Amino acid sequence: MNWQRHVRCGEFEGRKVVIKTNKRIKGFRDFILIFAYVLTSVLMLHPSSPHPLGTILLHNESVAMRKTLRKIDILSPTLLYISKRVLIEEFVEGGNLYSLFEKKNDLSLASKAGLITARLHSAKLVFLDNKAENYLINAQRQLVRTDLSFIMRDDSIFSRSMDIASFLASIMDLGRFEYRILHNTYIKAYENETGGSCPYLYIILRNILALGFSANRANTFMNLLSS
Ligand SMILES: Nc1ncnc2c1ncn2[C@@H]1O[C@H](COP(=O)(O)OP(=O)(O)O)[C@@H](O)[C@H]1O
Ligand SMILES: [Mg+2]
Repeated sequence: MNWQRHVRCGEFEGRKVVIKTNKRIKGFRDFILIFAYVLTSVLMLHPSSPHPLGTILLHNESVAMRKTLRKIDILSPTLLYISKRVLIEEFVEGGNLYSLFEKKNDLSLASKAGLITARLHSAKLVFLDNKAENYLINAQRQLVRTDLSFIMRDDSIFSRSMDIASFLASIMDLGRFEYRILHNTYIKAYENETGGSCPYLYIILRNILALGFSANRANTFMNLLSS
């Protein structure tokens, strides 16, 4: 279920597009997310400043932010229209990465996701909402990053760990073999690109987030126990 926005396909100026309309509870839901983020950072003894809500969320989805990402080789769909309530962007035909992983273990795409996360971190930015569902696959089998609202300028250990944790947690309800190999591939690509090891809080944060993201509790528990 999609509880942030209504997301549907449509047509705009003769091209296939995706139209995202904020639900009424979106503001409240964003607040809860940020509150949970700050609370977790305090509980983990890494207090982090809150993400500014309001117009910054709109700025994050803007053409300017998409250009910033493009400069560090992170693709995002072309933005066609944006207002406080509605966002229209280019339709990316290959579906999202989580749905693809449910069908097959595509290691090259897991590696690309690790690379994208690393490039973002090297530019001192974080996604915060770095779920596999927020990566789309285009006709050239490139990864395209959508849902940009929570990008933030930050390079703390906590926020970088949160990015890695949210990606891994979002695929932790896949089968045990599938999860393990995708996990290792993603981490390896991240570490190769940054030239260092992953920020150390990611495993514990992953375990906390996994329980919230899971669509298959049995698989998630199995993966929690075995890693
Ligand atoms: N530009 C796009 N092209 C194709 N599918 C998309 C596009 N944007 C979003 N989607 C699909 O809609 C889902 C939800 O979109 P998203 O922007 O992440 O909304 P939310 O803010 O509710 O998480 C994505 O996981 C993806 O499957
Ligand atoms: Mg999303």
